Amino acid sequence: MIHVKTEAEIELMREPNRIVRDCLQFVGERIRAGMTTKEVDTLVFDFIKASGAEPSCLGYCGYPASACVSVNEVVVHGIPDDRVIEDGDLVSVDIVAYKNGFHGDSARTFKIGKVSEENEKLVRITEECFFKGIEDLKAGTPLYDIGYKVQQHAEQNGFSVIRAYTGHGIGREMHEDPSVPNFGRKGTGVRLPANCVICVEPMIAAGGFRVNVLKDGWTAVTRDMRPAAHYENTVVVRENGVEILTL
Ligand code: MF3
Ligand code: CO
Repeated sequence: MIHVKTEAEIELMREPNRIVRDCLQFVGERIRAGMTTKEVDTLVFDFIKASGAEPSCLGYCGYPASACVSVNEVVVHGIPDDRVIEDGDLVSVDIVAYKNGFHGDSARTFKIGKVSEENEKLVRITEECFFKGIEDLKAGTPLYDIGYKVQQHAEQNGFSVIRAYTGHGIGREMHEDPSVPNFGRKGTGVRLPANCVICVEPMIAAGGFRVNVLKDGWTAVTRDMRPAAHYENTVVVRENGVEILTL
């Protein structure tokens, strides 16, 4: 069931969403070659705590960290560890914060130092996929129109859409209905109601879309080991468009 939020609930959601936005900016200003992904996680934990919020991921289904830090071939849910970030890497950082009884969720892929032309393009197209996905989104839009547009843009540019993970509704729970795939057939799916809140999060791969999950049960890597990028915002569907809570 899709939860429609009241205006009062949407007001309460602004704060956790602002915190993840500011946290990603904070991380973006500090992330650099030579850091471990664990050090990135510490930045995130400290920032969220100092903001009076809780890191939603920590302990979620046993997840052992505050952030997902996914390097190059890791698509999502990279568990922070001793991996050292190197010049030329793509590092996707996905953060969820809980405050006022609600979650806020956003992800960015950071380019470390000088990256290849292909990586440069992958990050740009992934971000563009998000904006294509929401460009005509408003109350009454069929759900799969979002994924249709994301997929069109990714594939027109020679990239592929990760199928195994999707966006999602969000609110008092981190994952609510509906699930929001980044692929689909135009004009199909439930019509999104005004004041539902969803995370639109294209995960785009330079090579094939197939992934393997490592033995840790979380880390999703591309089967061909080619890089992937991620761009996510929490958005409110409104009568005449969307309101992005994490920009
Ligand atoms: N933004 C991610 C998602 O929507 C957050 C996952 S947190 C984890 O799935 F705990 F599941 F890792
Ligand atoms: Co999410």
